[in-house]
Amino acid sequence: MGRFEGKVALITGGGSGLGRLCALQWAAEGASVVVTDLIEQRANVVAAQINDEGGKALSLKADVTREAEIEAAVAAAVAKYGRLDIMFANAGKAVPGFGTIALEDISEAEWDDVNDVVYKGVFYAGKHACRQMKTQAEGGNIVVTVSAGGHNAYPGFGPYCAGKAGAAGLVRSMAYDWGRYGIRVNGLSPVHGMSVNFALPPETPALGMSYEEAQLAESGAGWDAATMFPGPLKVKRPPSLEDNAAVATFLASDASTYMSGVVIPSCDGGSFARTSIPIPENWSLEDQA
Ligand SMILES: NC(=O)c1ccc[n+]([C@@H]2O[C@H](COP(=O)([O-])OP(=O)(O)OC[C@H]3O[C@@H](n4cnc5c(N)ncnc54)[C@H](O)[C@@H]3O)[C@@H](O)[C@H]2O)c1
Repeated sequence: MGRFEGKVALITGGGSGLGRLCALQWAAEGASVVVTDLIEQRANVVAAQINDEGGKALSLKADVTREAEIEAAVAAAVAKYGRLDIMFANAGKAVPGFGTIALEDISEAEWDDVNDVVYKGVFYAGKHACRQMKTQAEGGNIVVTVSAGGHNAYPGFGPYCAGKAGAAGLVRSMAYDWGRYGIRVNGLSPVHGMSVNFALPPETPALGMSYEEAQLAESGAGWDAATMFPGPLKVKRPPSLEDNAAVATFLASDASTYMSGVVIPSCDGGSFARTSIPIPENWSLEDQA
């Protein structure tokens, strides 16, 4: 028995990266998956793969900035599969200019471009999931993809970081307000091992690789954690989407049934534990002697 046998999951931003991988993995473990994305073709490819492999999936274009499209996607999930157990509010996009526009020069349109997705889009996904889930005796489960940027600043990513911090706030508020309906809400904050597509033009096919894996593939180099990983934890392989998907899957599964209102840094390699005081990356106790 898979962990998602009999469950119905809707994923936003399911056509690439983390959302795509979770769609494939959860379907392989028994979920009926509604794969949605701004780019319809991406969602179609993922759903087709699931159906070809004997799973159950439906694909839809759903732009998380448009409330009516999210409402329609939830309605389509219920019409096709009868219920909604898991909403994975995962869609996200980078700040316009990918960190090249000074925060003080960001226009209202540029602010809205990213925040309508990473902040307001999470509200729409949660809102319409709740409206369905509160009618279900078993309640439901909402998982939100936040980001390291929701806890710490990335240079040039002010509007994104603010929106992601807002998404973390929504996780707590939704968990508090909807717990009485048996709806739990948690988030994960990916740090490393995330989708290289995020930094590439939307017409790029979904590559299914992390930045670190893509860099190795391009350079042909082998993985050297000591020089290539900017966190304290040194592992003998690069961080990957699988590392982040494992945390999303834990939150989406019954293994975390009694958790709510929590945002977990995923795949952080100890980065959040490290002080910013400059200490040589490869310091050792022996060198101190
Ligand atoms: N890749 C990173 O650097 C990184 C790091 C930390 C957190 N995150 C977050 O992880 C989540 C998943 O991103 P990913 O890394 O898999 O990137 P990705 O670019 O591979 O996938 C994101 C998907 O979201 C879709 N999308 C964008 N705008 C949308 C909208 N308005 N409505 C619906 N779908 C939309 C895109 O078309 C894309 O298919 C996002 O919330 C992102 O902010 C990404």
